[in-house]
Amino acid sequence: RPEYKVVIMGGGGVGKSALTVRFIHQIFVSAYDPTIEDSYRRNLNVDGITVALEVLDTAGTEQFMSLSSLYVRSGDGFLLVFSLTLLDSVAELHTIWEQIQRIKETTHGTAAAARGGGAGARAGAMGEKLERPRVPVVLVGNKLDLQHERQVGREVAVNLSRSWGGVPYYETSARKEINVAAIFEDVVRQMIKA
Ligand code: GTP
Ligand code: MG
Repeated sequence: RPEYKVVIMGGGGVGKSALTVRFIHQIFVSAYDPTIEDSYRRNLNVDGITVALEVLDTAGTEQFMSLSSLYVRSGDGFLLVFSLTLLDSVAELHTIWEQIQRIKETTHGTAAAARGGGAGARAGAMGEKLERPRVPVVLVGNKLDLQHERQVGREVAVNLSRSWGGVPYYETSARKEINVAAIFEDVVRQMIKA
């Protein structure tokens, strides 16, 4: 059975752990306990293919960000999470995205470019350069249930996902269990194709 590692990244308190624990254990953690690093395993069936998934839940807090290049190197796919209730949490994803592009292009840029295929065709449809290797990424706007505290409009996130070559964007709630399975399934589908 194929094995993939998905790394959850994004600023502090955006809900990376809540989404991970909701996906792994089907419960909502309402307390905020900042993560250092947690790893989980789960099998997931997507389109009839069962994969063994390792989920690495990382720290959003600055002091642990030095580890992020290690996480990027080790990941096959990435969930980049911000909170719909905090505009600043969108900006925090830029550095992570750039780091993913830089590291994944230098480590296996030519191999990925040679693979071309579906990812390239999709990027081409978005008007992007065809030769750019596509790393499996999903952009996630979490805390959708906190409608009255919302600071990030849907169009802001959609524009960001377009500027990244059309990565899929989902709005989620770990609390109300909205789109939690969907984000993991999407990144797994991308990893299977990559
Ligand atoms: P770090 O580990 O410090 O990087 O934070 P994190 O991104 O893992 O955030 P965490 O999952 O710990 O969530 C932070 C706080 O937000 C907690 O109190 C969660 O219960 C709350 N939270 C997370 N997701 C949601 C959500 O979808 N809705 C609501 N209402 N609260 C959420
Ligand atoms: Mg956490």
